[in-house]
Amino acid sequence: MNKLKIFTGNSNPDLTKRICKYLDLPLACATVDRFSDGEIEVKLSENVRGVDVFIVQSTCPPAENLLELFLIIDAAHRASAKRITAVIPYFGYARQDKKDAPRVPISSKLIANLIRTAGTDRVLTMDLHATQIQGFFDIPVDHLYAAPVIIDCFKQKGLKKLVIASPDVGGAKRAEGIAKRMGNLPLAIINKRRPAPDQAYVTNVVGEVKDKDVLIIDDIISTGGTIVNAAQALKAQGANDIYCYCTHPILSGDAVYKIENSELNKLYVTDTIPLKKKADKIEVLSVANLLGEAILRIHQETSISSLFV
Ligand code: R5P
Repeated sequence: MNKLKIFTGNSNPDLTKRICKYLDLPLACATVDRFSDGEIEVKLSENVRGVDVFIVQSTCPPAENLLELFLIIDAAHRASAKRITAVIPYFGYARQDKKDAPRVPISSKLIANLIRTAGTDRVLTMDLHATQIQGFFDIPVDHLYAAPVIIDCFKQKGLKKLVIASPDVGGAKRAEGIAKRMGNLPLAIINKRRPAPDQAYVTNVVGEVKDKDVLIIDDIISTGGTIVNAAQALKAQGANDIYCYCTHPILSGDAVYKIENSELNKLYVTDTIPLKKKADKIEVLSVANLLGEAILRIHQETSISSLFV
């Protein structure tokens, strides 16, 4: 088997170091910097000829994270890497996955095309906003779920009267999957309306939450509007403690302030996107071991299906 090397851009070097620690590998050496005019400068400082290369980069804003990924892939491709896997813990632009208005792009399809065109052989990603985005790639995609980290965390808490909630109808399947795996817990679904992008309000809550603790499951928190409104609606229905688990903490604008001043007792997020600032109510659970194990199995060409739970 060819050698395995892991490179990173600037989107999430800490997660990459945690992955390397799990794999007991040094982070491969590269320059991913800026020229004086602001253009991105990439140079792999190690030989990658015939190497199984993994490039870890989330494609959260700024858009330069995407460009860095394309350029690192191109550098590895031109340096004769044997195989290049783009490890994208958070695949940005995923919410723009359809032409749902006149004259709009299908951004996630374009990004998938660009990643392929840059020279990627396969993709490893986590909790895509819509699982069918896998089909936007004409190369193999391994799609992991971060759910085991939150399930373990809540098993340890041992809460007795817990209800799993989805903050909108679109996330019901995701929440239902977690409810099943936590022992067929009851489910509540919150009906959300979006009058405009980045604005959300709740119309009603379906399910019994009175005197229950509630764990809301979401994939992304951006403005925080969805989750804060959901927590408020659940409280109005008589819920006790309200927790939220979200894989990808974009936390744009004043989202952290909103969360700190909301009805939420605690928000659990993962490290697919680094937190810009710490907050009392936000706890980070790492997905490094999951990604590390998937990288190892891809490299060894063994099954990773047992990680898809
Ligand atoms: C929506 O479909 C997603 O799952 C999230 O609920 C949404 O993207 C969160 O956005 P925001 O925090 O801006 O309300």
